[in-house]
Amino acid sequence: MRQRMGFLAIFAVLAMAHVATAGDRRTITEPKTPDICTSLNATSENDTAAIQSLNATSKDDTAAIQKALDSCDTGKAVALSSGIFYSGPLTIPSGVSLLVDSGATLKAIPNPKLYDKGADTCGTIDNLGVGCKAFITILKANGSGIYGKGTIDGQGGAHINALNITWWKLSKIASEEGKQQNSPMLIQINNSVDITLYQIVLRNSPLSHVAISEANNLTIWSVIVYAKHASARQNGFILDGSQYVTIAHSNITTIGTGIAISALLAPSQRISVRDIHFSRGSGLTIGSPANYGINIVRVSNITMTILRNGLQISGNNLNGGLIRNISYYNICMYRVYNPIVMEMVQINETGSRTPEFKNVTINKMWTGSRGSFVFHGIGKSDAITVAMNDVHIARNSAWSVTNAQVTGNWEYDLTERHCPHNVNN
Ligand SMILES: *[C@@H]1O[C@H](CO)[C@@H](O)[C@H](O)[C@H]1NC(C)=O
Ligand SMILES: *[C@@H]1O[C@H](CO)[C@@H](O)[C@H](O)[C@H]1NC(C)=O
Ligand SMILES: *[C@@H]1O[C@H](CO)[C@@H](O)[C@H](O)[C@H]1NC(C)=O
Ligand SMILES: *[C@@H]1O[C@H](CO)[C@@H](O)[C@H](O)[C@H]1NC(C)=O
Ligand SMILES: *[C@@H]1O[C@H](CO)[C@@H](O)[C@H](O)[C@H]1NC(C)=O
Ligand SMILES: *[C@@H]1O[C@H](CO)[C@@H](O)[C@H](O)[C@H]1NC(C)=O
Ligand SMILES: *[C@@H]1O[C@H](CO)[C@@H](O)[C@H](O)[C@H]1NC(C)=O
Ligand SMILES: *[C@@H]1O[C@H](CO)[C@@H](O)[C@H](O)[C@H]1NC(C)=O
Ligand SMILES: *[C@@H]1O[C@H](CO)[C@@H](O)[C@H](O)[C@H]1NC(C)=O
Ligand SMILES: *[C@@H]1O[C@H](CO)[C@@H](O)[C@H](O)[C@H]1NC(C)=O
Ligand SMILES: *[C@@H]1O[C@H](CO)[C@@H](O)[C@H](O)[C@H]1NC(C)=O
Ligand SMILES: *[C@@H]1O[C@H](CO)[C@@H](O)[C@H](O)[C@H]1NC(C)=O
Repeated sequence: MRQRMGFLAIFAVLAMAHVATAGDRRTITEPKTPDICTSLNATSENDTAAIQSLNATSKDDTAAIQKALDSCDTGKAVALSSGIFYSGPLTIPSGVSLLVDSGATLKAIPNPKLYDKGADTCGTIDNLGVGCKAFITILKANGSGIYGKGTIDGQGGAHINALNITWWKLSKIASEEGKQQNSPMLIQINNSVDITLYQIVLRNSPLSHVAISEANNLTIWSVIVYAKHASARQNGFILDGSQYVTIAHSNITTIGTGIAISALLAPSQRISVRDIHFSRGSGLTIGSPANYGINIVRVSNITMTILRNGLQISGNNLNGGLIRNISYYNICMYRVYNPIVMEMVQINETGSRTPEFKNVTINKMWTGSRGSFVFHGIGKSDAITVAMNDVHIARNSAWSVTNAQVTGNWEYDLTERHCPHNVNN
């Protein structure tokens, strides 16, 4: 027993040393808020009742905020200092940031016409779901960001103009019909470098809170995502084709997936996810799609409570690819129905892409309530290779392995146990 403890201690030290080298290789420190170019104070009253009624056109700060952003010097930020701002879609120019101070809230006016891309489909259901602009767009930017301790509220639960329905209800109906809702993302970041999101509270997005496509050098730090009453399509962060990414010190409460990492348009690699608390919805998903491959994702210091799926890697034969060098370290879960789901599905008989999950490691993990552990590959028996060490699983948990090689040490030795509060602070 003593020898075993010794081994574990040495192992823990090695694992800690390894932490510093994997994932995002940049040197990441807590971001600094930029200097202010212009401060705006809201002229609007707190008129929640009016804005939620079917007519919300009377208060609109879009032009004032956009003008301030467009005339701000590179390297500086437009500050929303106090009060409630109501706005339609905004674009943050390259090099410029938006700062929402602790006394301020920026609310998305729930009028689909404002976000429509031109086909007059925003606010409707169809097979594509690409009819709306995002509330805040960062496109082909270098050095932009969103800062401040204030709130950006997508008002997903508010009635959208002219239709007696909320954005979330639109998603629910679309989901039931197997279709897509045309709803805005809260924040869309595309083809950009050196982008920072710091301290901001992101609430109640009409769709996903932060959608990222092909970003390099992205830092997300101390961000709170909160949409406890949304539907399963309101995700936290969805990240595609991006490299050198750190998501740290954040809390994500959604009904959808907290963080999803994919590779449809470009490879995703060198990603660190650390010191995060996930609750409700599902936790962290890697894959589906993974066409360009996903390499080197380091997930550490994580607590997860009340989730459907905890750590998930998924693939299928239509948009599968190679997912490799994924490591999970220091993970605590409580009331997670499926703590680990590594699963490939044959969704189409003609699909010829072969998903592979290689070199997945799980070190130091506790699941304090019983759940299902699933490792289902397709094709070869080593389609999935997972190595575990120091993994403690609640008694009576279910375990299912097909076409996968799961090696290492794990023990069914936990009885009811909450996650310690100091895991991710
Ligand atoms: C990303 O940051 C690193 C330094 O941390 C820098 O060397 C590299 O050029 C940056 N990449 C881009 C695309 O800006
Ligand atoms: C905005 O309000 C703050 C106090 O909340 C005040 O200090 C500042 O002068 C105001 N700025 C403008 C431009 O009115
Ligand atoms: C605005 O008013 C609503 C209801 O009156 C209240 O719940 C909300 O906290 C207020 N928001 C702010 C920022 O004062
Ligand atoms: C808002 O109300 C005004 C006056 O009541 C009306 O003229 C206008 O058409 C309404 N706008 C919308 C989008 O319903
Ligand atoms: C981003 O801007 C910095 C200067 O602030 C510059 O050095 C760097 O080359 C730019 N990166 C890209 C990809 O344009
Ligand atoms: C909206 O629907 C609710 C019931 O879902 C109904 O009570 C309300 O009268 C409707 N409002 C309008 C303006 O149609
Ligand atoms: C951002 O990228 C996504 C994914 O490719 C795309 O659907 C969306 O239209 C892009 N948005 C902008 C403003 O370029
Ligand atoms: C994040 O979640 C944890 C656990 O629920 C909580 O203790 C902590 O206060 C939260 N942090 C923030 C900034 O909301
Ligand atoms: C994990 O948390 C511990 C302390 O709580 C800290 O020492 C360590 O640096 C963290 N590691 C990572 C990769 O976040
Ligand atoms: C497995 O992945 C880890 C990073 O998670 C990496 O350090 C190690 O070199 C990889 N091993 C192999 C055999 O590729
Ligand atoms: C990632 O994994 C592959 C094997 O699947 C290995 O050849 C490669 O060296 C690894 N890369 C890193 C940086 O760990
Ligand atoms: C299967 O995939 C092929 C392309 O590989 C596609 O043409 C076909 O529509 C798909 N069938 C189904 C049922 O999804």
